[in-house]
Amino acid sequence: MAIVERDAPYPELKKSHTAAHKGTPWSDFKPPASAPVWNIIQGFGNYWLLMAAIELGAFDTLQKIGPCPLEPLAEATGLSRRSALFLFDGLVAIGMIEQYRDVYKLGDLASRYLTSDAVASMADLIGVAPGPLENWEELAETFRRGTPRQPIENDPEGFYVPLVEATYPTMLRAATRADLKIGYSRTPNLRLLDLGAGGAPWSVAILSQNPTATTVVNDYEGVLEVAKRRIAAAGIANHESRVEYLPGDFHTVELEPNSFDMVILGHILRTEGDEGAQHMIDRAFAALRPGGRVIVSDYFRDNTRKFNPFGVLMGVTMVAATRQGHTFTNEEVTAWIRATGFEALRLIEPIGFNSMYVASKPE
Ligand SMILES: C[S@@+](CC[C@H](N)C(=O)[O-])C[C@H]1O[C@@H](n2cnc3c(N)ncnc32)[C@H](O)[C@@H]1O
Repeated sequence: MAIVERDAPYPELKKSHTAAHKGTPWSDFKPPASAPVWNIIQGFGNYWLLMAAIELGAFDTLQKIGPCPLEPLAEATGLSRRSALFLFDGLVAIGMIEQYRDVYKLGDLASRYLTSDAVASMADLIGVAPGPLENWEELAETFRRGTPRQPIENDPEGFYVPLVEATYPTMLRAATRADLKIGYSRTPNLRLLDLGAGGAPWSVAILSQNPTATTVVNDYEGVLEVAKRRIAAAGIANHESRVEYLPGDFHTVELEPNSFDMVILGHILRTEGDEGAQHMIDRAFAALRPGGRVIVSDYFRDNTRKFNPFGVLMGVTMVAATRQGHTFTNEEVTAWIRATGFEALRLIEPIGFNSMYVASKPE
């Protein structure tokens, strides 16, 4: 291979005469390290190591028995010494747990996000957040075809029931904290429309913090079962009379016009493509009373599409898993919200990584 033959024996010290090629006398040329490529290769192992740790109860075990050396951990997880060594050392290597001398312990990260009963637990999310895992092995084919072989739309309830169970703790925190920014607890008799509600974290947060609020909760019939269970378990006063369930497709289900104080589009736009997303913003506008507010909560790409890799990679996840989904830039989504007629548009971020636009229908 020509490139290999021409590379210097000690590339990190290479000083090349480049006049013949580039017209400049010479340059110090230090090739980039290969570490970023290795990081990607090992990223595959990192993900599966974390999945295995969740499945084997590694974090819950450490929480239960506290800081300890390898032997009690091997015994409690039922693993051989070799397996336990590489499981727990591996978790230290990828920064998920801590180790001091021979003692392993949960750090703040694992205690907050990786144990199964933590308030901010992401334990169930790790397996479902990337979408159907088998789609990733066919990503090149998906890019060629433009759609995955098994888009989640083929079996929406099968995909969304575990997803919304897993995202509920995070979205409940975001929805609860959003009150500090938008004060939904201070609107008397607030009438809420929660479209594609999932486990209904928004309805639970608002009903819990506003005792006079009522809500209409929409989703597919099978997913509404999760919402019903979550709402019943949340200890909300008089929830039976304050919640109406509205099963059906959010693009077509009948919505009362001009009657809601708040409409939630909570992480439902990025599966819908440009036209579908605009259609849902239009539907929210029509359903709101004058002065009512829409919340568009989602993961967005920044306008240059490179400063927020999370938003871009969430877009890749959508391409890998859905027929037409992708993340939108802040510019795109704000243009659509304004074009619909909304005003007083602002962006809030009640918890990290969860940004949402808030806008009002003119009085
Ligand atoms: C990512 S979850 C978001 C759940 C919740 N709104 C939240 O913010 O956590 C997307 C939800 O939209 C629902 N959904 C997707 N397409 C839908 C459609 N066409 N009609 C009704 N619900 C739909 C899914 O079932 C799922 O519960």
